[in-house]
Amino acid sequence: MTASIRQQAARVLLGNWTGHSTVPSHSLYPHQWSWDSAFIAIGLRHLSPRRAQVELESLLGSQWADGRIPHISFSPAVARDAYFPGPDFWQAVTQGGVETSGIIQPPVHALAAWLTHLADSDESVRRNFLARVYPKLVAWHAYLRDRRDLGGRGLVAIVHPWESGMDNSPAWDAALARVEPAPLESFTRRDTDHASDSDRPTDLDYGRYVQLAATYRDHGYDDGRTPFAFALEDPCFNALLIASEHALAEIASALSLDPVPHLKAAAALTSSLSTLFADGIFEARDLESERLVAAGTISGLVPLIVPGLVEAEELLATACGPRFRFGEVRMVPSYDLTGPAFEPGRYWRGPSWFNTAWLIHRGLVGLGRTDLAATLRTDVLELAATTGFAEYVDPHTGEPRGARDFSWTAALALDLEQP
Ligand code: SER
Repeated sequence: MTASIRQQAARVLLGNWTGHSTVPSHSLYPHQWSWDSAFIAIGLRHLSPRRAQVELESLLGSQWADGRIPHISFSPAVARDAYFPGPDFWQAVTQGGVETSGIIQPPVHALAAWLTHLADSDESVRRNFLARVYPKLVAWHAYLRDRRDLGGRGLVAIVHPWESGMDNSPAWDAALARVEPAPLESFTRRDTDHASDSDRPTDLDYGRYVQLAATYRDHGYDDGRTPFAFALEDPCFNALLIASEHALAEIASALSLDPVPHLKAAAALTSSLSTLFADGIFEARDLESERLVAAGTISGLVPLIVPGLVEAEELLATACGPRFRFGEVRMVPSYDLTGPAFEPGRYWRGPSWFNTAWLIHRGLVGLGRTDLAATLRTDVLELAATTGFAEYVDPHTGEPRGARDFSWTAALALDLEQP
């Protein structure tokens, strides 16, 4: 069975490879996505360490002069209207001529680069991989620290739900309700051509996503000038930045550079992250009200990956309690099973996802909870195989939802399948 998962995952990843990067899904997401690429590299390194390096390097090729890594790097080989919002909406072109979006996604890249290096350090050294990516990753983190600490607390703020990677999380509902949606007749969704309406965000959500993105675009993606109607400190985003600062410390040491600035940055972020802890979970802070959003989401459990997290035991109790029922439902639901907004099939409002399962698995291993980690690993491998590498699954039934042959599902199953 294990051999067959490896073969099937390889088939998905090779099928979604475009020559220098991997599409998350040929139908639903036909370009290169930022945090997808990082997760994809983590699995691809077991098939071809060199390809995993190229995956990350091609993504870094779309980095802006200000250091941001845009959430989509558009492929010129794909029809301009295959995905909405496409390059004509974003109107962003890098100095190198790459068309991109203007928003960002969670910073899992340095962690992915370090794990990719470890897969074949000889090949990495021969290609000078770490030396080439390190300054770009440093510039990326500097952008986040210098331009996105909108609340002044030493935490990064997201300015669009898509920046969290968890687009329609119930944690964004109250903040989004303040946004006047773009009229529905002003744009055409393409996502519902490829996935069931009931698995995807609503039209009302989309209208608001479009409006927020258009406002940022119309202010030149200038973080100092844009009147952000949506700005929140997200636990998952900041936890991944901490994990990636630790990875940058490892990379710096491997390059005989000083790791201490990265360790200091990680420590400062970890201490700031604690201000988001409430009711046994990390919650997002809405910078409009300056209050925490009382919604239990998977984002609030992802800090389990932060080394030395003082709240780890309380967080584990929440994961195993009635809100997330670890070990009793499939993988880890994206939203509190007892919450008022829970929907088992709708994107980030309840379904269980493979990337968050992988992050929590990594956290459990780091905490020495090998029993819980083994349970989650078994669930991920079984669901990846039985769902045809679904994008996400119903946490109660394990039924597939969203896209199939989804790249990070294949990549992360492949990573966990390693002995
Ligand atoms: N996740 C968004 C989408 O569904 C955008 O990144 O298209």
